[in-house]
Amino acid sequence: MKEWTLEERYRVLNDAEEIRDLHERIKKSVYRQKFHVQPVTGLSSDPNGFVFHEGKWHLFYQWTPWGAVHGLKYWYHVTSKDLVHWTNEGIGLKPDSFYDNKGVHSGSAISADGQLYFFYTGNHRDENWVRTPYTCAAKLSADGKPQKLPEPLFGPRDDYSEHQRDPKVVYRPENNTYYILIGAQTLDEKGTVLVYRSQNLLEGWVFAGQLNVPGYEAFGGMWECPYIVNISGKDVLIFSPQYTTLPGRASSTNHNVYLIGHMDYDTLTFTPESDYQYLDFGFDFYAAQGAANVNDPDKAILISWIGLPDNHYPTEPEEWEGSMTLPRELRLSGNRLIQTPVEGISTLRKNEIPAEGKLPEYGEMEATFTGTDTDLVLYTKADGSGGFSIHYDSDKKELTVDRTGMDKHFNENVGEVLSVPLPDVLKKLQIFIDRCSVEIFINDGEATFTSHIYPTEAEHNYTITNYNSLKIWQYEASVEDSFVV
Ligand code: FRU
Repeated sequence: MKEWTLEERYRVLNDAEEIRDLHERIKKSVYRQKFHVQPVTGLSSDPNGFVFHEGKWHLFYQWTPWGAVHGLKYWYHVTSKDLVHWTNEGIGLKPDSFYDNKGVHSGSAISADGQLYFFYTGNHRDENWVRTPYTCAAKLSADGKPQKLPEPLFGPRDDYSEHQRDPKVVYRPENNTYYILIGAQTLDEKGTVLVYRSQNLLEGWVFAGQLNVPGYEAFGGMWECPYIVNISGKDVLIFSPQYTTLPGRASSTNHNVYLIGHMDYDTLTFTPESDYQYLDFGFDFYAAQGAANVNDPDKAILISWIGLPDNHYPTEPEEWEGSMTLPRELRLSGNRLIQTPVEGISTLRKNEIPAEGKLPEYGEMEATFTGTDTDLVLYTKADGSGGFSIHYDSDKKELTVDRTGMDKHFNENVGEVLSVPLPDVLKKLQIFIDRCSVEIFINDGEATFTSHIYPTEAEHNYTITNYNSLKIWQYEASVEDSFVV
């Protein structure tokens, strides 16, 4: 693995030409995605600024241009009309001010009064590498690029640690007030959320207080990327707790969870109605962000990073890694979220291919089951050996995903075997396979499992037992690997 110096990781990109050759090389990788947003070069991590504005979806991702390493972060901009086909738009926000001298970190967007606003963390570090996180704003200008406000909206509070970041703006029509949720850490290193409020998006922000979440006062050491959304009359708090291990998640210390309950904006109390639940059960899923301006009281639209903060992936030697999940629709059913792939994804079905044991290079597989024990093994070799195994145990009503059979092993510490408890018997799997990722939607969205996967040339078959029906489609590509910076 390449050892990066601080200087290399935090090098400023002055001219797109500096990374053109890098892109040319990366483009040739057999793992470049065909229907998932991925970094133009280098590393992509959190989704940022996800919003619907004037007929178009805008999405940004945290981006380090130089290679598969976390360093100086930019917001790279992509747009879509349908959440299926994506166009590269180039850099959205770059670290070019005092306040963000060491990175434009995560944040969100909101469309209001025909204008598009962005809120992000300016990651400032001084010469002794001491960090000061600023909450900053920008507005979409006529040239289609975010224009930064010269001064931050507010700085960090000194009664919390330096971990205060990832502003998510939420509008509450009941009192015509905007709220900013900030992922934070208390001085005794507990994860929490700080809440600010204002009647105006670009001024007047005051600290409202720390969010109370009864029962979650000591749940992880930092809550990254918090988000609260109302779906069908209930509030859902989604966040990424860090620095803790959680049951069923091997020794990973980075998670993405949700709570369903009631948010009282007057007392700043989120009262959960049930235990926390995993947003996704896979090996690689983090920093999920809901889109703003969806305008449907019964659903939210969410996208996430396929990756985890401390992980390393086999494309690192190729100097790129990371990608976004497919956008997913969230609905509520009792006390759980139902997650389905974005409506319209099936328009990519180019042709149905015969279910004869070979996987498409990228596409979709849909299988229905009888509810008995089942084995579906993806990416086996032609003789049926190895692969990425999905086993359903009907006694335990549990799905177990085991990737120990794959040729390429990585991040063994986050587990190579993970299980998904199901509320009901296994009836259906809908699986999206791209060139380096797999997303499994179980029983029409009762649970999901997202993972990176790097099959070798010999690993392109599958085996399946005890199923009712099986359909496989080759997809059309919906992302272009174009060099726009
Ligand atoms: C989450 C995160 C955020 C931060 C960003 C920096 O993965 O650590 O909290 O803003 O990434 O890239």
